[in-house]
Amino acid sequence: MTESPLSPVQEIVQGLLQATARIAPKYFYDAAGSALFEDITRLPEYYPTRTERQIMAAHGADIARRLGPGASVIELGAGSCEKARELCQLIAPSHFVAVDISSEFLHDAVAQLRVALPGVEVRALAADLTTDFTLPQDLPRQRRLVFYPGSSIGNFDPAQALQLLARMRGLIEDDGALLIGVDLTKEVAVLEAAYDDAAGVTAAFNLNVLRHINRLIDSDFDLSQWRHCAFFNATDSRIEMHLQACVETVVRWPGGERGFAKGERIHTENSYKYRMEDFVQLLNQAGFAQTEVWSDDRSWFALFLARP
Ligand code: AVJ
Repeated sequence: MTESPLSPVQEIVQGLLQATARIAPKYFYDAAGSALFEDITRLPEYYPTRTERQIMAAHGADIARRLGPGASVIELGAGSCEKARELCQLIAPSHFVAVDISSEFLHDAVAQLRVALPGVEVRALAADLTTDFTLPQDLPRQRRLVFYPGSSIGNFDPAQALQLLARMRGLIEDDGALLIGVDLTKEVAVLEAAYDDAAGVTAAFNLNVLRHINRLIDSDFDLSQWRHCAFFNATDSRIEMHLQACVETVVRWPGGERGFAKGERIHTENSYKYRMEDFVQLLNQAGFAQTEVWSDDRSWFALFLARP
């Protein structure tokens, strides 16, 4: 027997009613949240996107040579598909599938991609990576490359990350590969600034999740009562983001409510930071025996090419 999965509404309500309330980071990405995330990637403090792009610029040709043309690329959490365009220009795949939770954002991005990549069969798939999703029927099984850039894997705790990597292994055959971007451990001040920028864009991104939740469960979060809070948890090697109540308040929705004391927090995101050797081990455990890694000169970010 299989348990029926919770609906988004049930999942959100259940999270809000935990002793420490939580909202899953996938709910950041409504249209406004996806656009705010794009703004984050351009902030001076937010180094991951820029560093990953530098690694690609320096080593993309090398990576492409290892993969060869004609692969079928599956990008997970594709968002704006900006990285996909660069990757596809380098490796000249036959097929490209963009998988993302935010369908509005994805369809525009894919339309642009079709124009930019006339030789590639481009598809969009709106899906939640943490559930079983079905890839398009016409996608070849041979020579698949799963592309998971941006250190999105950092949202999952190591046990969940292992599960997700194993799921990616399941999407490819023995001739396939995984290209994954991973943020690395570094000086705490650098990490914390990246998640609490001077312009307040990350704060706006974090707070926007409440607006999205209000729409999804018809709750009455008042955004002016909450503040953004981000710090590095060294024990678990992760940045944590929370929303903290500035005042005592009650949040109501049809069929339920939750009181919050002044200062009480809702946990909205973890962003794990790995040591290179620890991530290699995780890849090995997930069924990827061969790994190659490229990094920047400060070793702030890493791109792993992993094969069965
Ligand atoms: C999309 C999960 C990689 O953890 O750096 C950025 C999300 N949150 N700023 C990250 C995020 C706040 C981002 N990931």
